[in-house]
Amino acid sequence: MPDDITQTQIDILNLLKDQNENWTSPKSLGERFHLSIKTVNQSLSELLRWGYRFETSRRGEVRFQTAPDILFPHEIARGIKAQVLGCEIHGFRSVGSTNSVAHRHAIKNAPEGTVIVAGRQTAGRGRLGRSWMSPPKLGIYLSVILRPTVAPAQAPGLSLVAALSVAEAIRHYPGLSAMIKWPNDVLVNGKKVAGVLTELSAELDRINFVVIGIGINVNHEPKDFSAELADRATSLQIEQGCPVNRVRLVQEVLLQLEKRYLQFLKNGLKDQLKAIKDYSSILTRQISIRHDNKTLVGTAIDIDVDGALVVSVGRRTLRLLSGEISPTESY
Ligand code: BTN
Repeated sequence: MPDDITQTQIDILNLLKDQNENWTSPKSLGERFHLSIKTVNQSLSELLRWGYRFETSRRGEVRFQTAPDILFPHEIARGIKAQVLGCEIHGFRSVGSTNSVAHRHAIKNAPEGTVIVAGRQTAGRGRLGRSWMSPPKLGIYLSVILRPTVAPAQAPGLSLVAALSVAEAIRHYPGLSAMIKWPNDVLVNGKKVAGVLTELSAELDRINFVVIGIGINVNHEPKDFSAELADRATSLQIEQGCPVNRVRLVQEVLLQLEKRYLQFLKNGLKDQLKAIKDYSSILTRQISIRHDNKTLVGTAIDIDVDGALVVSVGRRTLRLLSGEISPTESY
């Protein structure tokens, strides 16, 4: 669907949006874009079919009213404040995994900042080989291609940067004080609303590209979660009590990610460590850790400047660079 809207429809739409409160006649639209009035009217009907709404005056003029909450690339691109992230946006109605599509684009030299976004995923991937539930219309499924000039060993820091950016974007909504569960889950009120899957193509000493995949549960209702997820996952709509516009949230995530990514390139995690620690849902808490095929119980005591979680287990201090942790008691 999102890839089917035509450039003519987008041009008409953008012009109507630019007109704000002013009325525009189909005739003047036709003149502006060298189209017949019939084609203009057909385009307006198509836009209605997509869910756009227009007011019509008694004289048959139109003005823009509302846009549907569909992750169309042209909607994300319009008014986006990020300058590099979103330089190219590819939208799909349905894909297997946006990370896989991004990987294919990256191999073909897509520029840094290219974004892949989908209305649904049929094979959405989570961390540690899990799947990511990606039903249509409810969530955000997006991947960003980055080409950071840092050593491969620094890549885990990027996951934290992405989780922090998502948490920050969510915090713009009243009442949603998002937290980070190391390394890259985002929680609201102790339940997971978003996850980050960072995938790397690298040689021993240099990164070719990184794909940052972000999944956010946005407008799900409780019935949209499987029984297995119901007590661990939530959505922004559930926690806020009203729906969230996904296009604006994507724009905010990209803006936060761009800001924090540029800081990361300059200074690693140094400038962001305080925010990462402030937003951490596990620091000072007792956690269980899957480590070397064993489950250990310890206390999360710090996050290092390389992104490692420092845990005290009995008399030992462990530094985890990746892995799976969970708090031993509920949040
Ligand atoms: C996790 O918490 O396990 C990470 C989930 C990441 C899901 C996103 S959705 C967009 C991108 N494409 C994927 O297949 N996965 C990531």
